[in-house]
Amino acid sequence: MDQGSTPLFTALMEHARRRPLQFHIPGHKAGTGADPEFREFLGDAAFSIDLINIAPLDDLHHPEGAIRDAQRLAAEAFGADHTFFSVQGTSGAIMTMIMAVCGPGDKILVPRNVHKSVMSAIILSGAHPIFMPPEIDERIGIAHGVSVSTVRTMLNWHPDARAVLVINPTYYGVAADLRAIVALAHDRNIPVLVDEAHGAHIHFHEDLPISAMDAGADMAATSVHKLGGSLTQSSVLNIREGRVDPRHVQAVLSMLTTTSTSYLLLASLDTARRQLAVRGRELIARALDLAREARERINRIEGLYCFGEDALKGSAAVAYDPLKLTVCVKDLGITGYDAEQILRERFGIEVELSDLYNILCIVSPGDGEEEMRALVEALKALAAEFRPQIGQYPVEVKTPVMPLLAMTPREAFYAETDTVSLQESVGRIFAEMLMVYPPGIPILVPGEIVTEASLEYIREHMNAGLPVQGTDDPEVRRVKVVRRPVEELLRI
Ligand SMILES: Cc1ncc(COP(=O)(O)O)c(C=O)c1O
Repeated sequence: MDQGSTPLFTALMEHARRRPLQFHIPGHKAGTGADPEFREFLGDAAFSIDLINIAPLDDLHHPEGAIRDAQRLAAEAFGADHTFFSVQGTSGAIMTMIMAVCGPGDKILVPRNVHKSVMSAIILSGAHPIFMPPEIDERIGIAHGVSVSTVRTMLNWHPDARAVLVINPTYYGVAADLRAIVALAHDRNIPVLVDEAHGAHIHFHEDLPISAMDAGADMAATSVHKLGGSLTQSSVLNIREGRVDPRHVQAVLSMLTTTSTSYLLLASLDTARRQLAVRGRELIARALDLAREARERINRIEGLYCFGEDALKGSAAVAYDPLKLTVCVKDLGITGYDAEQILRERFGIEVELSDLYNILCIVSPGDGEEEMRALVEALKALAAEFRPQIGQYPVEVKTPVMPLLAMTPREAFYAETDTVSLQESVGRIFAEMLMVYPPGIPILVPGEIVTEASLEYIREHMNAGLPVQGTDDPEVRRVKVVRRPVEELLRI
């Protein structure tokens, strides 16, 4: 196949050049009916290819032309048997993976530190999650992957599981021994689904963690928009044939996808795939050099720590993505959120996310030496300001708790509920999802018993100013809990 070609983008450009008289949506009609300021800002080119599934442009729900060809090229580029484009981000692709293999009551093994889309799919499908504890790096308070022995134990306890889902790599860039996990699951003929939101680029450079497809996994949901260069919201779902039926996966994806698919997003997937396939290695190599140098320089700044190879330990953390710079600021006596705000207000720098102890900065082929220098200089200034505080406020690193699941998330979500204060929820079964976003990992999911430890963890994040959200009440003052008492459900 010619990876230099872009079947969909080319078809769109040719169609726009022909300027057919448009009597179809979108009603902005190549921009002429759009708000003039927005049109001027975006440019006519973008409007001219913001089209819909008319026959010459194929249909994502039933591809047999330019979209089919673009997806085939993507499958070859990602080393998959089939690739489906998603205009609903990786969240949509993750929900598809789970709903394609799990029905009501089916068990699925998932790490507890999953993204909220995994929990949404579990609620929608009625699947029964078997949570696997991830390994925690106690120095910086972040969760890595799950160890091979955890997966083995869980598979032994739950041989009837319908699927194993793992994250590869995590938001912070750490990857577990995926090959071994895949081998364990496949020994039992159980498919492995991979949340590869943060791994669109990893197949394209040998210094990065192994990709899900290369490790033999059955499906992988991959945010091309994150580190693969496409527009926000565009992702791919890669499939290895054998244990899953690609036609069924396509049908489920279609169920979860808008019928008004954005051709701007689809074209950006087509072109991002070309760039990754043709120049990915070279572009990533340059970004890796920049990130490695920045990491070294950050680690020379007193009071800061940016993990690298030294964080790799055991089978839950066998590789990492150097493009993720997790900078631990806790020794300066400030939170990651404080650092994020200072970088924003005083240095004009926006980071990817912050948590109680760290900020996460993402390096990509879009960065150059100047950007990296600006980041390191800002971090130097930040560290210099708080240097007198080093050792003054020793921070006890708190790690997320893993509450007990008393009923399936779906049962709890649809149960009769009481609305109570956060404090009154202790000892009750939570009926909502509560998380810090980003990264969007739920602290509580429907069905879990609320404990004082969960509340403490939530309050600490709220007090630090971190965005705790997910409940009906945006202020998280009052939350929904299952009306039936725990004792009755657990028959204590
Ligand atoms: C680990 C993980 N999985 C899935 C997602 C969802 O990806 P998307 O934003 O493309 O829907 C995210 C988003 O940040 C994520 O961090």
